[in-house]
Amino acid sequence: MLKRTHHCGQLRLEHDTQTVVLSGWVNSYRDHGNLVFIDLRDRNGLVQLVFDPEADSLSHKTARELRCEWVIAAKGVVRPRGEGLENPRLATGQIEVLVKELQVLNASKTPPFEIDAADQVNEELRLQYRYIDLRRQAMLNKLAVRHRVTKIVRDYYDEHGFWEIETPMLGKSTPEGARDFLVPSRLCQAAFYALPQSPQLFKQILMVSNTDRYFQIVRCFRDEDPRADRQAEFTQIDVEMSFVDEDDVMSINEGVIRRIFKEILDVDIPNPVPRISYQQAIEEYGIDRPDMRFEMKLKDVSDIVKESTFKVFTSMVEKGGIVKGLCAPGGAKYSRSDIEKTLTAFVSDYGVKGLVWMKVEKNDAGKAVPKSSITKFFTEEQLAQLAGRFGANEGDLILLVADKAEVANKALAPLRVRLGRELNLFDPKDFEFVWVVDFPLFEWNEDEKRYDSLHHPFTCPVEEDMGKLETDPGHIRSQAYDLVVNGSEIGGGSVRIHNPQVQAKVFELLNISEKQAKDRFGFFLKALEYGAPPHGGIAFGLDRLVMLLTGTENIRDVIAFPKTQRGQCLMTEAPSHVDQSQLDELNLRVQKHLHQIEEDK
Ligand code: AMO
Repeated sequence: MLKRTHHCGQLRLEHDTQTVVLSGWVNSYRDHGNLVFIDLRDRNGLVQLVFDPEADSLSHKTARELRCEWVIAAKGVVRPRGEGLENPRLATGQIEVLVKELQVLNASKTPPFEIDAADQVNEELRLQYRYIDLRRQAMLNKLAVRHRVTKIVRDYYDEHGFWEIETPMLGKSTPEGARDFLVPSRLCQAAFYALPQSPQLFKQILMVSNTDRYFQIVRCFRDEDPRADRQAEFTQIDVEMSFVDEDDVMSINEGVIRRIFKEILDVDIPNPVPRISYQQAIEEYGIDRPDMRFEMKLKDVSDIVKESTFKVFTSMVEKGGIVKGLCAPGGAKYSRSDIEKTLTAFVSDYGVKGLVWMKVEKNDAGKAVPKSSITKFFTEEQLAQLAGRFGANEGDLILLVADKAEVANKALAPLRVRLGRELNLFDPKDFEFVWVVDFPLFEWNEDEKRYDSLHHPFTCPVEEDMGKLETDPGHIRSQAYDLVVNGSEIGGGSVRIHNPQVQAKVFELLNISEKQAKDRFGFFLKALEYGAPPHGGIAFGLDRLVMLLTGTENIRDVIAFPKTQRGQCLMTEAPSHVDQSQLDELNLRVQKHLHQIEEDK
């Protein structure tokens, strides 16, 4: 086999007259009879090969038989392209390689889609033939970014005294809130391992073991329905540190993100990254992962509208609900039907019953005042107060919803982002980072009449709120923090509870009985009793980080072999049936086979 000397995308005018050997795939071919042109592709890029019978008649003859995706090696001489024949869209567009020797290393069946047109092909087909899909430069670039990120991560943590330590994949279920993937044990019949939802307990135990600073680039498994930014199998950059407080964890760990964005995108992240409290995030953005690329903050106007005679508002405020909304700059250009059909349908998907709108116009006195069919229920002063609260200008659109605070926020947060995008209030290429801090430790679960952890049950309360564990659990703040970029949560963590009594109290409030706690994570509680240092940590979602860095909204684009919405790998056809003998060995009986389940549907 001809031995490769250069990569395709590497060649430039400076290589003129050099003899090179290239290997790769036939991207495209043009047969002009006397001359054959091949664009040869390798991981590095494309280069044009020219086959001229005058240079080598055998190569020229063979080249006429080549087809797309055949694998070849070619030896030839680099030369400038002819006058006017340069291709400015190609990095190697100034040159071509005149081939003197050609070897066909392998033929290929006609691929199921053209590589250059893969963007228009349905994703299922691309996933089925992932090896072909990944040959595309756009896909390879994403894998390259992912590789560079993991390299930076390893270097950064190593420089800061962290050790990369692996934790088991076959483990015991940890309560991170999602469903576990279970793996039956053959040797311990009727017992199951759980694949880790995260290495949470192991990394905390590593702190008890005096490893001091740990990190791991680790696969996590959560049996949840996949979404655009969620996979059942995903990767975390997982970190834990001893003898630290919240500030230490945040500052060390924002450092790695700063380095990644600088090295990969040349983007400077402010130092330190700004912080916002959970409460402020909810008040102003309606969500704990605010998109800070633009203002358009939400405002609660219950105090103003409760004085009006508009029943929908007054009765909602009387019932303990709120009236809250936003003022979209330039939003008056939305037509009545845009607002009453499209936007109202959008918010009603989040459970609110209606969307009240007012366009802001100049009155006779030249003042900007809200105008709509309901303004008759408001005094002039109330309207002026509304305009003032929102800082409204002529041409703006005020949108209000009346509901329970959680429902109103749930609808307004995505509405704000949608309008921000539609009204071009931000540059999609911007990045705005923020730490969300001071999360409540618990949220009340009305259905089950008990508290749930907002993060996970190992999160430590803020020191001065510790006393409220006995008296007022609903108002305890936690030492937890999330790193949010452009409305996407890319990481989250906390200072942990290192005191076994506090941990036991938290389990009690979560309605986890002593027996349940002992059964599920007795090993962990025991470890806490043997000199656990104060410790804390964080985990970043590697896939989400690479999505941001590569500008894709589809998590599958940044994973070499991802799963579909149904959790299937279309290339290998996992998950699949197994032989009866395998089930027998595991002492398992399948109640219904897939085809029966499909038939029953
Ligand atoms: P958490 O559950 O917040 O914390 O996860 C940390 C980060 O992992 C990413 N992430 C996901 N990415 C893709 N698909 C998913 N299904 C998915 N789920 C989570 C997110 C998230 O911010 N053990 C704690 C961390 C700690 O406290 O140290 C944990 O797992 O970017």
